[in-house]
Amino acid sequence: MGLLAVFLLWLLSLSRAKASNNIGVNYGQLGNNLPSPYLSIELLTKMKARHVKLYDANPDILNLLSNRKIHVSVMVPNNEISNIAVNRRAAEEWVRNNVLPYLPKTKIRYLLVGNEVLSSYSEQGRKMWRDLVPAMQMIKRSLKALNISSIKVGTPLAMDVLESTFPPSRGMFRYEIRDNVIIPMLNFLNRTKSFFFIDVYPYFPWSQNPYNISLDFALFRGGLSTRDPGSALVYTNLLDQMLDSVIFAMSKLGFSNIPLAISETGWPNAGDIDEPGANIFNAATYNRNLIQRMTTNPPLGTPARPGVPIPTYIFSLFNENQKPGPGTERHWGLLHPDGTPVYQIDLTGKSAAADFGPLPAPKNNVPYKGRVWCVAVKGANAMELEAALTYTCNQSNVNCDGLAPGRECYEPVSIAAHASYVFSSYWSKFRSQGATCYFNGLAQQTTSNPSRGPCKFPSVTL
Ligand SMILES: *[C@@H]1O[C@H](CO)[C@@H](O)[C@H](O)[C@H]1NC(C)=O
Ligand SMILES: *[C@@H]1O[C@H](CO)[C@@H](O)[C@H](O)[C@H]1NC(C)=O
Ligand SMILES: *[C@@H]1O[C@H](CO)[C@@H](O)[C@H](O)[C@H]1NC(C)=O
Ligand SMILES: *[C@@H]1O[C@H](CO)[C@@H](O)[C@H](O)[C@H]1NC(C)=O
Repeated sequence: MGLLAVFLLWLLSLSRAKASNNIGVNYGQLGNNLPSPYLSIELLTKMKARHVKLYDANPDILNLLSNRKIHVSVMVPNNEISNIAVNRRAAEEWVRNNVLPYLPKTKIRYLLVGNEVLSSYSEQGRKMWRDLVPAMQMIKRSLKALNISSIKVGTPLAMDVLESTFPPSRGMFRYEIRDNVIIPMLNFLNRTKSFFFIDVYPYFPWSQNPYNISLDFALFRGGLSTRDPGSALVYTNLLDQMLDSVIFAMSKLGFSNIPLAISETGWPNAGDIDEPGANIFNAATYNRNLIQRMTTNPPLGTPARPGVPIPTYIFSLFNENQKPGPGTERHWGLLHPDGTPVYQIDLTGKSAAADFGPLPAPKNNVPYKGRVWCVAVKGANAMELEAALTYTCNQSNVNCDGLAPGRECYEPVSIAAHASYVFSSYWSKFRSQGATCYFNGLAQQTTSNPSRGPCKFPSVTL
């Protein structure tokens, strides 16, 4: 082998050098068909995940994670925050019961207080805003009292904590939470050298505005670079823009050194007809490219913070069939519930896209245009359909008069046909207010018109 060839090989090995322990996986359990915790931890281990984030402090899972190489993030549930915020004994008890018994065999590294607390806008939710930082302080104090110094305390927030995100230099926290919640929180995170945990999904801004944001830009595949006129920084992908809007928002409040961690990110592998771009091709592309970026050595960082590593947890381990809401909600998984991969992925970042087989061609990258109806799923349980039908007609101001004997939608006299009529009526009436065509798994969207003869089913026009 010539000297040049050796040199080129060495260069190649350098470019593939990976900081391999930056990528974690969120282990959500909102499914009734998921593998046992034991099998799930085996799957995580086989995937070489070095970090896992839980949405609680499940004792079985924490025990199963003992003597593994996997670092663990546990969570204080939202409904315990207000009590912990004002009750030192409750805070200590929480740590004593949910953390202490598993140390040091289970490598708990982060204790996250609540989940997207500042995105709950109900009266009860808003009460939690006030309690969030005091609860974080109480938990930190409790860890200290128990001489636990290896665990950082944080709280994962969603992008709606910002009232402005574009261009990134205009990033700014929502005014209503800025002084009372965000500033004390940033003080806490800065003082305790913790991370600002952010759930950040380029999928959402892209899917809400697919004509103005290029899909390639959202999937790290180039697209037009954009220059932020406020900072003169140049962006090559949407994730960097979103992350930097958080960094600029923090800097404006005087905190320019709190590191970011991505508590959730990902791309849905399937979704409803009115959810463009949710497919296996895009999900694999996003997550593979994300891992490539986040595992370079030295780290890439973002334009506002080049070279700074960003711990990243992908959402999610499994497709979770009991998450309510639009179809995408149930399709964020790297794995099917039976443990098989939805697409191949290498969490260490050592394999590039070219090392995997071909992906199915994306079919829904262009938003669907036309009419869509919401009908009963084939084979849905008749009793459940009847209950949903009755409830919907009774509770939601949906006009079900057309189903009465002798009226235009009475025939065919079948529960599925009647339920489909009610689902379509409900969804077309309330979609603009956020209603989804789901009905607990009883309903799905269709582009084929279920109307029959004189019975016209209401539809949504996309
Ligand atoms: C924590 O450490 C201090 C000093 O090392 C010791 O006095 C105290 O008993 C320890 N507390 C606990 C709960 O282990
Ligand atoms: C953040 O913490 C550093 C020390 O780690 C300190 O020098 C700095 O003043 C703090 N920033 C603010 C805004 O409090
Ligand atoms: C998309 O871009 C066009 C032209 O640049 C602009 O007029 C329009 O307001 C944008 N739409 C959204 C939703 O941002
Ligand atoms: C309809 O709703 C009312 C109260 O909103 C309830 O009392 C009644 O039982 C309901 N009827 C059916 C058939 O569900």
